[in-house]
Amino acid sequence: MAGGTDMTGDTATGGPPGGVILSFRDVWVEYGDKVVLERVALDIAQGEFVSVVGPSGAGKSTFLRLVLGQEGPTRGQILLDGTELTPECSPDRGVVFQRYSVFPHLTALGNVMFGLECAASPLLGKLLGGARRRAAREEAVRMLEAVGLGHNLDVYPAQMSGGMQQRLALAQALVKHPRVLLLDEPFGALDPGIRLDMHELVGGLWQEHGLTIVMVTHDINEAFKLGTRVLAFDKRRHDPHAPNRYGATAVYDVKLDRKAREAGPPAELAGVVT
Ligand SMILES: Nc1ncnc2c1ncn2[C@@H]1O[C@H](COP(=O)(O)OP(=O)(O)OP(=O)(O)O)[C@@H](O)[C@H]1O
Ligand SMILES: [Mg+2]
Repeated sequence: MAGGTDMTGDTATGGPPGGVILSFRDVWVEYGDKVVLERVALDIAQGEFVSVVGPSGAGKSTFLRLVLGQEGPTRGQILLDGTELTPECSPDRGVVFQRYSVFPHLTALGNVMFGLECAASPLLGKLLGGARRRAAREEAVRMLEAVGLGHNLDVYPAQMSGGMQQRLALAQALVKHPRVLLLDEPFGALDPGIRLDMHELVGGLWQEHGLTIVMVTHDINEAFKLGTRVLAFDKRRHDPHAPNRYGATAVYDVKLDRKAREAGPPAELAGVVT
């Protein structure tokens, strides 16, 4: 066939939009004889918003920790931009947890600047000087404005509501321009009204900045509302005499078009998500 739109020749950093960012190749996580994840094999493309659901203990946070490099697979390989992940945190992966990951002794601006300082100089910390420090401050202020905290630069986390702290955690993660933004039940502790505000904020940031997001949630409606793809982790096999013998894997993996998003979660997922 003539013509074709082969984009595999694109060598721009990070590859073409829609190219694969993250590759899981037959990944297993085992603690002693307890298998947590098994045979996880999937690719995540640039610009995807992947919602991860599944029962408690299915390994959703473990999956995120693998991407974050806090943990390595016991078998298999994980590639980020085609290169095997090193087991260490790095600025190409930002993370927001359910419970606030901000530093209580720093102001909003201090928290976001701290992220930048670490990214610039992971070993030496606060060594940004002069012009670079001013540029970092401007960038931090811009990010705080983007998450709606432009008027709260000098406020400490203890003086903030839960929603404000999560906005701050988002700014702190995003200021480093991570290749992948990881969200572990980021709205789980928030009131319903605030959750809706946060959906708009995260959806807007995702679109504006062309982010790639992997978000764990217990809320199946949230998963379908925000995601372009829904992954469900669960065990395919159970051994009643040896509950640790089999791990969870991606039992459901569906890309959502507008119709699927509007239709909402299918009945078959009701049994998977608690
Ligand atoms: N260091 C560890 N040693 C042994 N088992 C562990 C360790 N870390 C996690 N696990 C086990 O791995 C399994 C998956 O844990 P994980 O936190 O990934 O689940 P989850 O899907 O995020 O659950 P939840 O929805 O409750 O947050 C659990 O059974 C947990 O006990
Ligand atoms: Mg978890």
